[in-house]
Amino acid sequence: MATCRTARGNELTHAHVDPRTETRTAIYRMRGTMTVDLGRAQRTHWQSTHQAHPHMYGDEPSEPAQHAADVFSAGHATAVLHLGAGHGRDSLHFARRGFTVHATDFSRDGLTQLRTRAHQRGLAENITTTLHDARTPIPLPDGSVDGVFAHMLLCMALSTAEIRALVAEIRRVLRPGGTLVYTVRHTGDAHYGTGIAHGDDIYEHGGFAVHFFDRALVETLAQQWNPSEVHAFEEGRLPRRLWRITQTKPR
Ligand SMILES: C[S@@+](CC[C@H](N)C(=O)[O-])C[C@H]1O[C@@H](n2cnc3c(N)ncnc32)[C@H](O)[C@@H]1O
Repeated sequence: MATCRTARGNELTHAHVDPRTETRTAIYRMRGTMTVDLGRAQRTHWQSTHQAHPHMYGDEPSEPAQHAADVFSAGHATAVLHLGAGHGRDSLHFARRGFTVHATDFSRDGLTQLRTRAHQRGLAENITTTLHDARTPIPLPDGSVDGVFAHMLLCMALSTAEIRALVAEIRRVLRPGGTLVYTVRHTGDAHYGTGIAHGDDIYEHGGFAVHFFDRALVETLAQQWNPSEVHAFEEGRLPRRLWRITQTKPR
């Protein structure tokens, strides 16, 4: 594999490939001798962020989740998989809209906050949670969900190979005719190309690593799906510049 240097001079030394999933974990040799797995470091970072800032995204559902709920309803969906759910502002929305929700994240604290809110709101029966790293296979059978939602998950510290493997997994667990709605920060975002470069269009700011998507990557991920709709929007104070992508698994 080609050597890649980050802005800090760290060197991408090799990639570990999980033979079961063919997902790749980039191993970086930091300046000096320490070697760090960026994905593992991000897991620790997100875990402490959810701990330090409970309910950091508030209680209101995101705009993409409201769109997704409408799309899922129109497709007569009942079972929704919510990946990278965090503390679950959007899981609660899906449950309120009458879907059964399987929410996953690799932060134990995020999911604990989600379950607490679900109990407080009387929605606990409609929501199950699983601690899950999106770089590993989705722990669900083939064709077992009607809709999948992932807001700002695919643009986390996942390599392009890991993103492709994740979308293949999403396709596997979706029933034919089921819909995926996902959002990602893109190369028009103010943080693109700045901060600590980790290679593969991943840049880190304030400890948060983001994989900025270009249109070619979106188009690659839409292959073998029914035509995707790409909607540009902004969220937060920066603002983050995102695309919301809606694509359906062919029947
Ligand atoms: C930008 S936050 C968005 C949270 C939630 N989707 C929302 O909008 O409220 C990204 C979430 O993805 C989770 N995450 C990041 N990388 C992950 C991975 N490899 N596997 C599972 N979850 C991950 C983080 O813990 C965090 O909760």
